[in-house]
Amino acid sequence: MKVIQSTATEIQIGDLLTSSFSKVISDYSKENIIIIVDENTHDCCLEFLLTSFPDLINAEIILLPGGEENKVIEVCLQVWETFTEYNFSRKDLVINLGGGIITDMGGFIAALYKRGMNFINIPTSLLGMVDACIGGKNGVDLNGFKNQLGVFKNPSHIFIDVSFLKTLPEREIYNGYAEMLKHGLISDKKLWDDLIKIKSDDGLLNEEMIFRTIRVKLDLVEADPEEANVRMKLNFGHTIGHALESHFLSSTAIPHGHAVALGICAEAFLSFKKKKISSEEFHQIEEVILRNFPMIQLTDEDVSDVIERMKNDKKNHSGAIYFVLLEGIGNAITNIKIKEKEVGEALFHLNLLGKALN
Ligand SMILES: NC(=O)c1ccc[n+]([C@@H]2O[C@H](COP(=O)([O-])OP(=O)(O)OC[C@H]3O[C@@H](n4cnc5c(N)ncnc54)[C@H](O)[C@@H]3O)[C@@H](O)[C@H]2O)c1
Repeated sequence: MKVIQSTATEIQIGDLLTSSFSKVISDYSKENIIIIVDENTHDCCLEFLLTSFPDLINAEIILLPGGEENKVIEVCLQVWETFTEYNFSRKDLVINLGGGIITDMGGFIAALYKRGMNFINIPTSLLGMVDACIGGKNGVDLNGFKNQLGVFKNPSHIFIDVSFLKTLPEREIYNGYAEMLKHGLISDKKLWDDLIKIKSDDGLLNEEMIFRTIRVKLDLVEADPEEANVRMKLNFGHTIGHALESHFLSSTAIPHGHAVALGICAEAFLSFKKKKISSEEFHQIEEVILRNFPMIQLTDEDVSDVIERMKNDKKNHSGAIYFVLLEGIGNAITNIKIKEKEVGEALFHLNLLGKALN
């Protein structure tokens, strides 16, 4: 069992049965315990939890509809109404059992109800384990804009047990891989070199790799918990990634990890154009993304809407678009102002890759 005691949270990586989970929930024997799941984690992960931990026998189960289109305040309102009907108090415990959508929303629900309940994250997707469950960002989307409403609040504990990944569809493993690659690109070249050597999705279901990618995020989050400076590096790939994800949300939705992979490709292009990475580095990044993720095609209308959405990105100010770019593999720089025309060129490049492959 690996235990990371960060300032805000305790993270345990290993078998849930031998972790301190049982002890933590026993402290709530006189309170209510609420487990939040989506349809898939209800079917694939919940039974193990309920049958392995007798203290959960009376837990209330809250089933949220899955998918980014349901990561909205209206769903949270229904949950808060249910919490009120059941007289839940701030001393009760919420357990978020699911991927990044469940930990983002469940954390948001717990953080706001009666000014803050205790909560625990048990991430069940690779993306959730290496990224979403860590760092205390909780929130929901608004009018298609990603994470427009949210709060910073850390769960008391995070339990990461890779055995939950046995039922995760292959495509979701690659979505987690995108965020792992990003962690390597922005601050750990050795991690990047090791990640790109992995030959199959099985190789990613590896505690050591998960631990190393979590370490990258935790170091940045601990140095800058509320994203005033270095934490922004984690947004590499996300300015374009989030805008693509939002744009396609109401039609052919692109999962978050896939959108981030496309964003990494386009933002590596910008880093190259700004002479921050070499042509070899750019082509290596592009090759890794092309090998692992499907490309997309964008019409002129798509491109203008994606750029409009970027202007609403939380990192921007004074009407300009600011990016995190790479400065060599393993290092990122923040607050780089990019002209709309240059963003258009990066999207055009992404489009060319899509056309070349179709
Ligand atoms: N808070 C943060 O710092 C942060 C960081 C990165 C991403 N995010 C957010 O995370 C979300 C994406 O997370 P995600 O990719 O985990 O999406 P997700 O929660 O939708 O999970 C992906 C899919 O896998 C299913 N699933 C999860 N665990 C499973 C299991 N063990 N077995 C079978 N199916 C399982 C889910 O039901 C879902 O269909 C986005 O909303 C993104 O904005 C947040």
